[in-house]
Amino acid sequence: MSSEVKSFPAWHSRWTFILAATGSAVGLGNIWKFPYIAGENGGGAFVLVYLACILLLGIPVMVAEVMLGRSGRQSPINAMRSLTSAAGLHGFWNGIGWLGVVAGLLILSYYSVIAGWALAYIPEIATGRLQGESVQGVQELFNGLLQNPRRLVFWHSVFMLMTVGVVTVGVTRGLGVAVRVLMPLLFVLLVILLIFSYRQGDFARGFYFLFSPNFSALSLRGVLEALGHSFFTLSLGMGAIMAYGAYMPADASIGKTVLVVGFFDTLVALMAGMAIFPIVFAHGGIDPAAGPELLFISLPVAFGAMPGGILIGGLFFILVTIAAWSSAISLIEPGVAWLIETRGFNRFTANLLLGGMAWVLGLGTVLSFNEWDQYKFAGMTFFEGVDFLTSRIMLPLTGLFIAVFVGWILAPAVSKKELNGGHSRAWSFWYWVLRYICPPAITVVLVVGLYDSFV
Ligand code: PFF
Repeated sequence: MSSEVKSFPAWHSRWTFILAATGSAVGLGNIWKFPYIAGENGGGAFVLVYLACILLLGIPVMVAEVMLGRSGRQSPINAMRSLTSAAGLHGFWNGIGWLGVVAGLLILSYYSVIAGWALAYIPEIATGRLQGESVQGVQELFNGLLQNPRRLVFWHSVFMLMTVGVVTVGVTRGLGVAVRVLMPLLFVLLVILLIFSYRQGDFARGFYFLFSPNFSALSLRGVLEALGHSFFTLSLGMGAIMAYGAYMPADASIGKTVLVVGFFDTLVALMAGMAIFPIVFAHGGIDPAAGPELLFISLPVAFGAMPGGILIGGLFFILVTIAAWSSAISLIEPGVAWLIETRGFNRFTANLLLGGMAWVLGLGTVLSFNEWDQYKFAGMTFFEGVDFLTSRIMLPLTGLFIAVFVGWILAPAVSKKELNGGHSRAWSFWYWVLRYICPPAITVVLVVGLYDSFV
């Protein structure tokens, strides 16, 4: 195994891991997806369930994933393979790595299309086209974009090339600057937006909508959506965090590190929500349950109305693209690492192959917003179907497998050693949650949520 160790040099410090993991976790899931699914599910109750899922299920599973990655020190599929064979376990458990690679590619296919929307907005805003625009004007511009498959494919291609390009060069380089400099900048812009929302939007109503739980508005399928999104937003269940764990220095504390990443990730999502909803409620024409277009309609109205809106708005969509880009890199990396380790690919061809596959699949998402919008399967368009399959089935399922594998199958000594557990209370608490809370809770939400979705 020593040769694999060499191909996975540990990152210099815990902070490098924190930055990379935050780069992976903070992305479209926080800024685009969280606000719109919270809006679709009636706000407060959904947010509460989502926060509970992050704390009780997401964080423990994340600790387990990072731990598996660090003790395996290989790509997720092979890490699982060596852990299972070393422990004499059934090959079934290798499936965790596989399911993850497939889920990563499926997610990347639509992620790239949505990141393309953000890219397409940069020239629109930078040229002042949205200055002083009404809700209707922004809506028209957005509809014009969605109704034009060629433009969508163009921006989808630009984003995919950016992703494939950087993964080809090597993940550790380039990513550092993006996360160290640009993420804090994104944070600053969110603060500016929050101040604007506070002064110009209906802040009280936005706050009430997001934080006052109204459980009658939340269905069981909504609970499953909250669970799935807690895994999505923390980049769990796909091997992404496992792959990054492989680079983590042996003496860094996994538990503390994961808490830091989870905290920032949740903070960014809540800030995005609190920037968006006061604007939504201050303008009659925007429906909080508008769906995927919510971010792209609400914030441009604000940029069009604020001093310096061209600069702030342009910069905002540049930074959203970069946040999406550092997440997309981690979506493709597990598959790339596996192709290199076991199939003799080089980085370039591995990327081209997987990026190409995700690009082709992404065309389905492009068309589901225009020419294929009436083609539905089980009431879902192609985009909705891929999102459903990944976020609400594959991620919770892999999360469940990871919890069962680490909690019940793998010898406790492995996690104790990796987590410097000894007899510490923190380790015992985590192990207890992973054994007794995660598996039954994920199973119940998955089964009941799926039943509610289809029956
Ligand atoms: N966590 C990312 C987001 O919230 O946008 C999405 C993501 C990245 C999911 C990487 C999964 C993953 F492996």
